[in-house]
Amino acid sequence: MKRIGLLTSGGDASGMNAAIRAVARTAASMGVEAVGFERGYDGLVSNTWVELNARSVSGILELGGTMLKSARSELFRTEEGRKQAALVVQQNRLDGMVIIGGNGSQTGGYLLGQLGVPVVGVASTIDNDLYGFDYTIGFDTAVNIAIDAIDRIRDVAESHDRVFVVEVMGRDNGSIALEAALATGADIVLTPELPFSIPKLITRLHDDVMAHKKHHIIVMAEGAGHAEELSHYISANLPVECRATVLGYVQRGGSPTRFDRILASTSGEAAVVALNEGHSGVVAGTRDGHIVLQETLEAVTRRNLLKPELVELLKRVSI
Ligand code: F6P
Repeated sequence: MKRIGLLTSGGDASGMNAAIRAVARTAASMGVEAVGFERGYDGLVSNTWVELNARSVSGILELGGTMLKSARSELFRTEEGRKQAALVVQQNRLDGMVIIGGNGSQTGGYLLGQLGVPVVGVASTIDNDLYGFDYTIGFDTAVNIAIDAIDRIRDVAESHDRVFVVEVMGRDNGSIALEAALATGADIVLTPELPFSIPKLITRLHDDVMAHKKHHIIVMAEGAGHAEELSHYISANLPVECRATVLGYVQRGGSPTRFDRILASTSGEAAVVALNEGHSGVVAGTRDGHIVLQETLEAVTRRNLLKPELVELLKRVSI
């Protein structure tokens, strides 16, 4: 292996820069050149890249965002775009590609692999929606940001005897909501995976209010509904003041936690080593605390379920 390409794609996640650094430096340590395509698959299709060497990735480990920028490429969704991307890989004499991203990005990597390009992914998304991994890069930072925000909201909820609905990110996956709820002692969590009924929720809140429990925190994944709507519904149906807070993109930015820095470094290294060993069609990440290579097709098609023991724990302790 002499020369590889890498890119970051999809929603950015804290730790992507640490992964870029690990990929570039692992490659450098093996005497392999690395080039970084800009703006995800758009940069690959348009052949826009920068050379990455050990020095050009200095000082990025602790930074949020991605120095290569990221995008959700419409061009790459077309067969024509993907063929053009494969041609660019060939023209640049690249022996393989490292794709740093989540479900959509790794699906793109799989499709590129079908065109004969060796591809190894690095599991990176705040959503934690790739099957086969404990956690993906950016998830830990996002949950910690949500925890910090919910702790603050709890102060307000207590001072004013209010109900708060806090909406966190997670289009199809309630992992952020579940873990943030557990870590902040929230009363109720609503996720796309766990069925819930609004009438039952109203009855529960009503019973709690009657029992003099005056403030509540409901953590809701964006994929489970809209915090504003639920908040209006609660205010209209119960004698309580309810407010909504949508945390949004703050969860994606900022310096990565120690966990995400190390996860990004170990996964980035593993991806380059795997490419060099001839692997393709796999994504690097951790399972049971160890670095593994997960088959890409399975990672993107099987659903990463909420951890059942955490769901049970929440039921037990949020009473
Ligand atoms: O995939 C990460 C994520 O933050 C999701 O939780 C969210 O639904 C989506 O990205 C938002 O995407 P965009 O950055 O395109 O608005």
